[in-house]
Amino acid sequence: MMGNETDYQLLCEQMEEMLNTEYWYVSAMSNAAALLWQFIPDINWAGFYIMRHGTLHIGPFQGKPACIHISPGKGVCGVAVEKDEVQLVPDVHKFPGHIACDAVSCSEIVIPIHRRETGAVKAVLDIDSPLKDRFTLEDREGLEKFCRMLEEKLIW
Ligand code: SME
Repeated sequence: MMGNETDYQLLCEQMEEMLNTEYWYVSAMSNAAALLWQFIPDINWAGFYIMRHGTLHIGPFQGKPACIHISPGKGVCGVAVEKDEVQLVPDVHKFPGHIACDAVSCSEIVIPIHRRETGAVKAVLDIDSPLKDRFTLEDREGLEKFCRMLEEKLIW
């Protein structure tokens, strides 16, 4: 691992310990956002949007206040939900319909989180960076593992 990279193994270990203490999504996602904020350098927002009545609602996060509702298909988060696909966006200014909650955001990664029981998308993890091209395939792999762990344990 190079100096400025994230230790995803340690991040996941710490998250697992927290999940073993509390599975309720509000508590678990609050500490998850705090851990991501602590472990991942060069980011300006890290947190969750949660599906409620067919619309994404802002959930636990770290960073500046952000937009409260996002419809499926809108912005990077909405596209991740609609396609049920990770969105790794090297330059948000080139992403059609990107929702600029914080003007400094330049790149972004969004990962869908599913309900165990149905497989439906229940939430997304959204991380923004002020740097272009911030997120690598290693970040994607580590964050997908992190989200799979949340999926396995969370109660909604
Ligand atoms: N950039 C997101 C909106 C959420 S904020 O970045 C926190 C999007 O286009 O989905």
